[in-house]
Amino acid sequence: MASVKIRRLSEADVPAAEKIERTITKSPRTSPLGRNIREQLKHGSADACLAAEVDGAFAGFIVGDVRPWEFGEDREVGWIKTVGVDPAFQGHGVGKALGEALLKHFKEKGITIVRTLVEWHSGDMIAYFKSIGFDRSDLIPLERRV
Ligand SMILES: CC(C)(COP(=O)(O)OP(=O)(O)OC[C@H]1O[C@@H](n2cnc3c(N)ncnc32)[C@H](O)[C@@H]1OP(=O)(O)O)[C@@H](O)C(=O)NCCC(=O)NCCS
Repeated sequence: MASVKIRRLSEADVPAAEKIERTITKSPRTSPLGRNIREQLKHGSADACLAAEVDGAFAGFIVGDVRPWEFGEDREVGWIKTVGVDPAFQGHGVGKALGEALLKHFKEKGITIVRTLVEWHSGDMIAYFKSIGFDRSDLIPLERRV
């Protein structure tokens, strides 16, 4: 596979990102992904939203965010909110290039801790995050229905 180019995600990429999501989830339903990306590009950490291109083709995206503080932390925390690689390009280092570029970006901003949430049974996602250096956190998510 040709080399992977990482660049900033733009609003023009939203339809391609939505297409990747539909391909991955095999769902024709419209999800909030596009709206969320647009919102993040306008009002959030736009520079933490990255796209991957292979031979000029849009191959994947990663959406990060920075929280100025949160429970138990008084410093900025980087978050990876979502990542998606077109199945046609999976298994060739695109996801890793996106993850490593976002981690580098966080580090350059002086951020020292990056978090994400994955489903416990999602072995593939855990393997992916382990490949870019993540490990189990001492934090546990708590939730309830209201
Ligand atoms: C997880 C994901 C981002 C990985 O992207 P990718 O380009 O295929 O990953 P890479 O080729 O860069 O591989 C990176 C690492 O991930 C791991 N990995 C990736 N896919 C895996 C799989 N199916 N099973 C196990 N490990 C996997 C590998 O261990 C690899 O590590 P290595 O380089 O040390 O071998 C991609 O599979 C994906 O988009 N999955 C769906 C994510 C999703 O549901 N997003 C929400 C909807 S958009």
